Amino acid sequence: MRVLGIETSCDETGVAIYDEHQGLLANQLYSQVKIHADYGGVVPELASRDHVRKTVPLILETLAQTGLQATDIDGVAYTAGPGLVGALMVGATIGRALAYAWKVPAIAVHHMEGHLLAPMLEPNPPMFPFVALLVTGGHTQLIVVTSIGEYQLLGESIDDAAGEAFDKTAKLLGLGYPGGPMLSLMAQRGVPGRYTFPRPMTNRPGQDFSFSGLKTFAANIIRTSGNDEQTRADIAHAFEDAVVETLAIKCRRALDQTGLQRLVIAGGVSANYTLRANLTNMMHLRGGEIFYARPEFCTDNGAMIAYAGMARLQIGAYADLSISVRPRWSMEELPALKRLN
Ligand code: KG4
Ligand code: ZN
Repeated sequence: MRVLGIETSCDETGVAIYDEHQGLLANQLYSQVKIHADYGGVVPELASRDHVRKTVPLILETLAQTGLQATDIDGVAYTAGPGLVGALMVGATIGRALAYAWKVPAIAVHHMEGHLLAPMLEPNPPMFPFVALLVTGGHTQLIVVTSIGEYQLLGESIDDAAGEAFDKTAKLLGLGYPGGPMLSLMAQRGVPGRYTFPRPMTNRPGQDFSFSGLKTFAANIIRTSGNDEQTRADIAHAFEDAVVETLAIKCRRALDQTGLQRLVIAGGVSANYTLRANLTNMMHLRGGEIFYARPEFCTDNGAMIAYAGMARLQIGAYADLSISVRPRWSMEELPALKRLN
């Protein structure tokens, strides 16, 4: 079986084809970064309009690249949420309509489940059960994953997500959009130890996160210490350290609490080198294993949607004929694969 995956939940148009035997056959991405850069963040209406322009041409390009015809596709998976409602509607409308025209099932994929399963696209995929740290621009979550669809939330952000904190602090440092990767680059030139940011919510029990205070902390330092190049790099370094260490402390707690020895990190922020290095070291010291995807599968992409779509298609989890999206959608509501069997 082959699944066409369509991702349009935010500012990337992603299209991919996943074959159950041969794996990923094609993966195309069109980034809207240039469109939103002038505004310092994603403008939802512009995002929707650009998905309208790019999605169908990208699907045609993906089919052409693989030499496949519409008749070679056994299911069409699209991101149905969470995300920007207008942007989601574009992918859902195109995906649902194509599936209808091609007389194949449509699969409404949960964006965060797509991120969570992205490390499965790598040569050495994790075995169940494991603890997953999901870190994106909109979510920070620690989850126990027993199988596909069996998700138990241990903790999440009560305000800004980790990626959002990166982006907002990057903005304060005068970096462009999207700020996370740029802040991380700048942090490499920072002098360690000049500033120390708090590690929010680590001095009380639990696995919830709060990152909004870090940007205020950064703003105060900028106001009092000036804004020269070295100071900004030193702030970036201290900020990144604080986010990474806070995430590591909560991961350690989750592993201690569950007794699990496998950690999966996924979502845009899992592309962060310092986070990967810190958690890899931590898992090495604990005698456990860590799993993450290559950077282009950490940020938004069509491959993860095609993969998650395949997993759900195999057990007959089809979308009905309605075109519906869910801007807010808890992963715990998803049915477990084995329950449908
Ligand atoms: O998963 P994603 O592509 O989209 C959402 O579902 O939100 O995550 C995007 C987030 C952005 O906040 C971006 O700044 C952050 O991931 N990000 C990074 C890095 N690469 C992407 N943050 C820190 N370091 C990076 N290398
Ligand atoms: Zn995402």
